[in-house]
Amino acid sequence: MSQNYPKTSGRVLVVDDEKNITFVVSAMLEKSGYEALTFNDSREALRAIDESMDAEEIDAVITDLYMPNVGGMEVLEHCKKYYPQLPVVIVTAFGTVEAAVSALKRGAFDFVTKPFDQTDLLAIVRKAVTTHQQRRKEPGFSVQSDSPSFSEFSMVGNSQQIQDVFKVISKIAASPSTVMIYGESGTGKELVAFEIHRHSDRVKKPFIKVNCAAIPSSLIESELFGYEKGAFTGAVSSKPGRFELAHEGTLFLDEVGEMPLEMQVKMLRVLQEQEFERVGGVSTTQVDVRIITATNRNLEEEVKAGRFREDLFYRLNVVPIHLPTLRDRKEDIETLARFFLKQFNQKLQKAVTGISAPALLGLQSYSWPGNIRQLENVMERMILMTDGTILRTLDLPPEVAATLPLGMGDTPVGELLNDSPANFKELVRRQTQGVERALIEKALDETGGNVTRAAEKLGLSRKGLQLKIKELGLKRSFE
Ligand SMILES: Nc1ncnc2c1ncn2[C@@H]1O[C@H](COP(=O)(O)OP(=O)(O)OP(=O)(O)O)[C@@H](O)[C@H]1O
Ligand SMILES: [Mg+2]
Repeated sequence: MSQNYPKTSGRVLVVDDEKNITFVVSAMLEKSGYEALTFNDSREALRAIDESMDAEEIDAVITDLYMPNVGGMEVLEHCKKYYPQLPVVIVTAFGTVEAAVSALKRGAFDFVTKPFDQTDLLAIVRKAVTTHQQRRKEPGFSVQSDSPSFSEFSMVGNSQQIQDVFKVISKIAASPSTVMIYGESGTGKELVAFEIHRHSDRVKKPFIKVNCAAIPSSLIESELFGYEKGAFTGAVSSKPGRFELAHEGTLFLDEVGEMPLEMQVKMLRVLQEQEFERVGGVSTTQVDVRIITATNRNLEEEVKAGRFREDLFYRLNVVPIHLPTLRDRKEDIETLARFFLKQFNQKLQKAVTGISAPALLGLQSYSWPGNIRQLENVMERMILMTDGTILRTLDLPPEVAATLPLGMGDTPVGELLNDSPANFKELVRRQTQGVERALIEKALDETGGNVTRAAEKLGLSRKGLQLKIKELGLKRSFE
């Protein structure tokens, strides 16, 4: 679309409910070499801002303050939230200085009062556009973040589910009780274990981690308890085990469900008596260790199946913590995405300042089978690969982009063809899936998750809808 326009010094979006104002302002901008996009309906303007920014096409916004429906303050807030580096210039009709000052406090670039002097406005626009164009080039431009609890926990999240986890952590951190953390892969089990350690009085002592699934069962005993010189071939000197290393600190046993049965007996004894012997040793070692375990298995079932000792299970499971999956707390996706944006910007020395609203919608619609770890990896890759200063839908990995409904600021059809060689079937499938997903989610939403009624609404059989839900990886509670 942009090739139809002559080269301009910048693109400015103007929104005012009065047509004569948008007319005058756009004429003035165009005369000075700017391209103007004008809107009299502020809701349409917001949509256009999202679409334009998703393609990084505007350099400044000029908005009236008092408009029906969506006011200028909301336009400003929307821009600050999603596109923090985009300058917003406020136009106010009554010269009410308070309103203008309050807009400045909330991050407006500048303001003019109506009736305004054209040269004044033009000077402000020129400054705004130049500032924006410079900001886009500056590496390491700091990202504004509205995510709370950055300091207290290195974990973020506002959902009730994760807030409850935070509460449990602070409540039990100081006690010596064993903790068992349950959760799918990538839900933050290790991070929670470390947070418990960090909030305990053991914080100055070691936090030692053992992954029970990664150590061959023949070596696990000497790993945990250490060995004496000559205990086995190759034991040329004695070596302390992880229990000793964790003395007065915390021992984190990851994937504890994988621990061999004969090892479980030995674990039980340490838990009961706080003592053990090194492999090949005769003397008994005393330790003071807080034990935290994690598993992505259903350990009660392992107990029933005889693969995990019941007595050990009860000893380890004194405080159980269940970590929610990411798809069960989608409201945290935005906070986490912004958290990782900030983190990777610093780490990778990039200047990515925001996520476009359509791209965020894509992140929020995806089901994240790999949970937070997967979101973290996706964010890192996008920040590394993007050419822009805003993450856009075209930066999303295909499996995430596929969740977007058709026409949702998605890659224009022309660009789809640039995938070389374009795979017609795959492209159509991706777009169709987006539409299917949107329809099904809407139907489920409207029926409060009732699959039978949602199926009726869609003209599908119940079975057919269930299959679709499964195929599209939609929320589990709908299955
Ligand atoms: N609430 C959170 N806030 C910020 N980052 C988080 C949060 N939860 C997890 N992470 C990050 O997500 C990644 C995965 O977390 P972690 O390794 O603790 O998961 P896990 O459950 O142990 O995964 P696995 O089962 O694969 O071992 C880590 O980089 C971690 O720092
Ligand atoms: Mg882990």
